[in-house]
Amino acid sequence: MERLDPLTLDAWGRDDMPCLLGFLERRGFVRDMLVWTSVLDLASFDPSIFADVVPDVEASGIQLRSVAQLGVAEPVVHHKIYDMWSAIREDVPIPPGEERAEVPFERWFARFDRRELLPAGYMLAVDGDQLVGTSQLWRAPAADELRTGLTGVRREYRRRGIAFALKVHALDFAKKHGYRRVLTENESNNRGMLAINERLGFVKKPVWGHYLKTFAG
Ligand SMILES: CC(C)(COP(=O)(O)OP(=O)(O)OC[C@H]1O[C@@H](n2cnc3c(N)ncnc32)[C@H](O)[C@@H]1OP(=O)(O)O)[C@@H](O)C(=O)NCCC(=O)NCCS
Repeated sequence: MERLDPLTLDAWGRDDMPCLLGFLERRGFVRDMLVWTSVLDLASFDPSIFADVVPDVEASGIQLRSVAQLGVAEPVVHHKIYDMWSAIREDVPIPPGEERAEVPFERWFARFDRRELLPAGYMLAVDGDQLVGTSQLWRAPAADELRTGLTGVRREYRRRGIAFALKVHALDFAKKHGYRRVLTENESNNRGMLAINERLGFVKKPVWGHYLKTFAG
């Protein structure tokens, strides 16, 4: 069976998609979440437009650093990222009715420590001893593309421009290092994240539906 990868550019815009959806609906699958895939062409991203964004956040006492700068092999850094991720993931949209499974540190670390990890593109916001936000770029199958991982900020630090600054910092890194495109996926009701990506110039591709079939008993 053909496997569709939502972030593979070739898979987008397929005109047989309505047939596939009807196939699912006739068999009792119900759509419970929509996810936008979006692409930023880095040739059209001009970091100079956002030149004040990172300095303004840093002037407020928040430092923006990459994992490469903090120490990609440092256990203390791993535990701090895990601690922050555990707090932020509570607010990442998931389909209604789905429960968030407990993720122990070891499982989180196995997903962190993989070949797609790009330590210099994995950005963190630091307030003193604590990590308060992140926006991550990961290697993609195509050498000139990067995929966005989690962008998130601890609740008590939101609406201070930290997520926006982290994304500008990450995209600036990507452009300087010769990458051509950055891909991202956002749940369709995540107004905050969508607003940030729209302002940065991400262009939406066809939306992806998450379908669920529930079996009695
Ligand atoms: C989405 C999120 C990362 C935004 O972080 P943040 O640091 O508060 O965002 P910023 O302060 O940089 O916001 C920049 C702009 O984005 C828009 N924005 C941010 N959050 C918003 C929200 N909840 N609703 C509407 N617009 C929002 C605003 O235009 C804001 O500018 P303003 O504060 O001057 O109005 C944060 O709410 C979060 O961590 N959410 C949970 C994790 C998540 O869902 N991540 C995305 C998974 S794909």
